[in-house]
Amino acid sequence: MADAAPAGPAYAPDALIAEDIGAYLEQHQNKDLLRFITCGSVDDGKSTLIGRLLYDSRMIFEDQLAALEADSRRVGTQGQEIDFALLVDGLAAEREQGITIDVAYRFFSTEKRKFIVADTPGHEQYTRNMVTGASTADLAVILIDARKGVLPQTRRHSYLCHLIGIRHIVLAVNKMDLIGYDRARFDAIAAEYRSFAEGIGIGGFTAIPLSGFKGDNITAAPSNNTPWYDGPSLIAHLEAVELATTAAQERPFRLPVQWVNRPNLDFRGFAGLIAAGTVRPGDRVRIVPSGRTSTVKAIPSFDGDLPQAVAGQSVTLTLADEVDCSRGDVIAAADSPPESSDQFRATIVWMGEDPLIPGRGYWLKLATQTVTATVAQPEYEIDVNSREHLAAKTLGLNAIGVAEVTTERPITFEPYETSRQLGGFILIDKITNATVGAGMLHFALRRAQNVHWQALDIDRAAHARLKGQQPMVLWFTGLSGSGKSTIANLVEKRLHAADRHTFLLDGDNVRHGLNRDLGFTEADRIENIRRVGEVARLMTDAGLIVLTAFISPFRAEREMVRTMLPKGEFVEIFVDTPLAVAEARDVKGLYKKARAGQLKNFTGIDSPYEPPEAPDLRIDTTTTSPEQAAERIVARVLGAWSPVL
Ligand code: ADX
Repeated sequence: MADAAPAGPAYAPDALIAEDIGAYLEQHQNKDLLRFITCGSVDDGKSTLIGRLLYDSRMIFEDQLAALEADSRRVGTQGQEIDFALLVDGLAAEREQGITIDVAYRFFSTEKRKFIVADTPGHEQYTRNMVTGASTADLAVILIDARKGVLPQTRRHSYLCHLIGIRHIVLAVNKMDLIGYDRARFDAIAAEYRSFAEGIGIGGFTAIPLSGFKGDNITAAPSNNTPWYDGPSLIAHLEAVELATTAAQERPFRLPVQWVNRPNLDFRGFAGLIAAGTVRPGDRVRIVPSGRTSTVKAIPSFDGDLPQAVAGQSVTLTLADEVDCSRGDVIAAADSPPESSDQFRATIVWMGEDPLIPGRGYWLKLATQTVTATVAQPEYEIDVNSREHLAAKTLGLNAIGVAEVTTERPITFEPYETSRQLGGFILIDKITNATVGAGMLHFALRRAQNVHWQALDIDRAAHARLKGQQPMVLWFTGLSGSGKSTIANLVEKRLHAADRHTFLLDGDNVRHGLNRDLGFTEADRIENIRRVGEVARLMTDAGLIVLTAFISPFRAEREMVRTMLPKGEFVEIFVDTPLAVAEARDVKGLYKKARAGQLKNFTGIDSPYEPPEAPDLRIDTTTTSPEQAAERIVARVLGAWSPVL
């Protein structure tokens, strides 16, 4: 399955950054890069502040400046003065609405550092954009309108920044000019914020009194209007804070392998972005998950071999030994490698228009690994305003929740708290290829590590041999009333008469016992099919020919069961009865009830049925009688598959 993984959409922020600023970064190559995010409401003066930063760092080109002056006169809100917000609010459509609606990345630089600022919108419903912008940031500027103080959105944004793992918070108390640079007011705001911040675990923050409009405490020189303030200006602070990559250099070495560079038989280089640590030729490394060890031979580059490389650098390594290592593996310090696991507790931010479907397979991308993963029903959803834990069955757009994540095979990871690169992941819808979630792994569930497969002496082949038959699952799918149970029953009778060991699992029956806790929502149907698939698999392990009669309306789950079984043992039989025909028969009177609105989520009425695209057998019940259908299926079972003896 994993081989079929799409390259997938690159994580949006990186893609944008890579495209837009490659050339810019080249020019300033030798400077550090600080990524930060600004959070605030529409009228906190956020755009003005960013515009001011760009302006004061002289990153505006002459023609842009002329356009800005003209625009300010035309649509600006600041009289004849330059309206810096116009510089940032970019798109004409946004300008008309007076809001910023998506993440915009801006670049500027000072003598000491270069900067990328992600400007994210301040509306409640844009958690998704905010998380996108924050995911790579070292620092967050939380904007406050000095006249309004700490607002609900201040708390919400701060909480999200903290959740996302941003280590540096600046409380930018803006519009100081409008409160007469009142020190007492500034101190009161900072104190109020401090008690909130401590409550959610934010260790420290830097409060700065400023005015984006007038330019107070933005650039290096302290403002004469705030003689009582002796802290740094915004720029001075941005130039001084420790970068996440600097901190990452102190941790053990990790290189998630992006690709293996093999131009000829004599050269094999492992390329990727160093997530943590420092590497030098001669270092002992371990390939995770295989566990093989080797030694770094060289760090070749365009400018010759490098003596060392550090976190944040993209490099190629060559190793002293011929070890297996491919995309998705992690080359790590030999004596402290990261863990691998396939079950985790995670916080998930949902970004999909359609809600999360617990139990469904999504692509999970973590560093350079892509695997199929399922998310369980959330343990709870977090209300970002009150930070209360709410009961939740799913997660809708912009919702944040905590849930168990299971991957189809073990992945190499570190807790998000330690490493964003090896602890942060995204979820991709397999059908639409859209990014539907972002998440943070907290820890592996010990369960996955302590429950091992037990090797059994009497294995499935031994069971099958004794029964003298090829185990398989005859999976009937179709609308309610299509004739699945009737045909499956006939097939079982005939196989039984031919001395085959069979078992029939029927939807209505299983729902009285094993699955009596499940209803007919999408999530419950998926769980219904998952359990039936697992039971059917156990029964084939026992050597049986299993027949299942479930509507099983979703392609994704039928495919999931197919992949659970050895190749060829899953036989999908589509009992193809048009809705109108099934409804006219209405054996159990359920269609009538559904039409009358007494039965919700009824398949074919107000719940979808996805017909198989390439079933192994299709039975057209408008032209084939149940007896004829049974005969065809039995012939296929007894004919095509000879018993393993
Ligand atoms: S499945 O969608 O989860 O595969 P399953 O085959 O187990 O469904 O159960 C379907 C049977 O449950 C139907 O044949 C019908 O008798 C009964 N039923 C009750 N409510 C519904 C409903 N809302 N939709 C479909 N079937 C229902």
